[in-house]
Amino acid sequence: MKQNLTIALSKGRILKDTLPLLEAANIIPAEDIFSSRKLIFDTNHENIKLVVIRATDVPTYVEHGGADMGVAGKDVLLEYGSKDLYEPLDLDIAKCRLMVAGMKDAGEVEGRMKVATKFVNITKEYFARRGRQVDIIKLYGAMELAPIMGLADRIVDIVDTGNTLRANGLVPMDDICYISSRLVVGKAALKMKHRQIQPIIEQLAAAVEARK
Ligand code: ADP
Ligand code: PRP
Ligand code: MG
Repeated sequence: MKQNLTIALSKGRILKDTLPLLEAANIIPAEDIFSSRKLIFDTNHENIKLVVIRATDVPTYVEHGGADMGVAGKDVLLEYGSKDLYEPLDLDIAKCRLMVAGMKDAGEVEGRMKVATKFVNITKEYFARRGRQVDIIKLYGAMELAPIMGLADRIVDIVDTGNTLRANGLVPMDDICYISSRLVVGKAALKMKHRQIQPIIEQLAAAVEARK
């Protein structure tokens, strides 16, 4: 008998790139996710369900077994910082970089530096490793606004095209790391549902390769 399997998907910009990969692995939602207010979706497999949640909630669901596997950005996974999430596959979507940025004309900062970000843990670790004292200002979006308004000296945020930085008079200053979206599997699911999960990972891996 096949066990039930729940896959947590990040809503927002990752979703539209995730669905074709799932489809290549023959996992197809039973209805249009984008035009529905539902949070749980049936698929073409009686035992497989999709849940569509905030990107930052995906690791929480998967770690606690509320979902067996999920799709999330590496930024979200690094910030969440769980050792209990197995990361078997780079999906090669939503590729971008995590960067330190500041105003174009900003000089060196003497003493403590104010850094605005939603990636508090990543930022703390990054500056701590460099022995740099910082005060972190937690924001939930539009980090680029913070230096303009005098809230912070620097930001730590996602940069893709650089358009948002440029449009707001900021420049990239330091590259923290490369980001893409990853498939994550919970420890419990990996143990209990390995035979079901393994072929899905393999089909997704083939779909990722085919897109390259
Ligand atoms: P949120 O509402 O949490 O910002 P998004 O849907 O905007 O969620 O982003 C989801 C994920 O996509 C992020 O965690 C990151 O990995 C990636 N991402 C965010 N912004 C960009 C971008 N401008 N270009 C490419 N990938 C991005
Ligand atoms: C993301 C990110 C940057 C921007 C970078 O914001 O936080 O602001 O994209 O992309 P670019 O380098 O191509 O301009 P998003 O649009 O997701 O807004 P939000 O997360 O603040 O809602
Ligand atoms: Mg965003």
